[in-house]
Amino acid sequence: MESESGVKKVLSIGMVCLDIVTVCHKYPKEDTDQRVQDYYWQRGGNASTTSTVLAMLGERSEFMGAMATDIESNFLRDNLKSYGVNFDNAMVCGSEVNTPVSMVIINKSNGSRTILHCAKNLPELSFSHFQALDLSQYKWIHVEGRPAPEAYSQIMQSVVQYNETAVNKIRISLELEKPGRPQLDPLIQYADVIFISKEKADDERLFSKEDVVRTYIKKCKAGAMVICAWGDQGAAGLGTDGFLCTSPIFPPETMVDTLGAGDTFNAATIFALCQGCSLQDAITLGCRVAGAKCGMKGNNGLKDIKW
Ligand code: FRU
Repeated sequence: MESESGVKKVLSIGMVCLDIVTVCHKYPKEDTDQRVQDYYWQRGGNASTTSTVLAMLGERSEFMGAMATDIESNFLRDNLKSYGVNFDNAMVCGSEVNTPVSMVIINKSNGSRTILHCAKNLPELSFSHFQALDLSQYKWIHVEGRPAPEAYSQIMQSVVQYNETAVNKIRISLELEKPGRPQLDPLIQYADVIFISKEKADDERLFSKEDVVRTYIKKCKAGAMVICAWGDQGAAGLGTDGFLCTSPIFPPETMVDTLGAGDTFNAATIFALCQGCSLQDAITLGCRVAGAKCGMKGNNGLKDIKW
């Protein structure tokens, strides 16, 4: 059974957290007392932000991950609703569990974001929770690699199994962002599209976006593609057909806020691939939308731009 409107959804699996953002003129010195420009609450987490941008670009978008029931989680729920992101299938945890919170410092002089993340006790999404989903509602499932390799492996394998007999196959993308989590690399074999971050690459002593895609494509299944965004160097993409493409960045006039720029890049790239664009056009749109995001506070302004 398809979802009500008959249009299949893009599901983003991973974390939703609260970002408490502080905006200051310049990065603070330790053990000083200074006045800042602004502070606000914002919904964060890679998969959650990716699901937001997908919704703003026009996809039917759903988020799935663990959610608490505390005050912070009420803010997150209201915010997801306001962007039209469905979260009916989120894994709601008991009252003893806290929403993960990031304290984020945005430096107004260059838009940099410094994240101090606190995850106290929210569990990771379990496979048994995921298993209850009706997969026929989805055309694409995007997975943020979280430190729960067993559950994520089962989740991704079950989608691969579903695809074996499904007429309309679900495409699977995987984001590997955080360094120091090599135990997630085996998930690559299940994905059609793999996003590798510069942070992970740095940790593995890969020194360019081209090196990254050439190294990681060897771990992929036939027909898959690897994508790597590399800050001001733009992005690279490589398919198992050997075709390498790159895109420059599209920087805004003023760098305002880079928080979530990578999640935005992933969303716009997935959106373009859903529309049937080539890998080249997809990473180019990813860079365009991420660039526009860096020129604005948060990402709400993206919905007013025609792409
Ligand atoms: C940005 C982000 C933030 C969150 C942090 C978690 O990519 O998702 O919203 O606080 O990363 O690592």
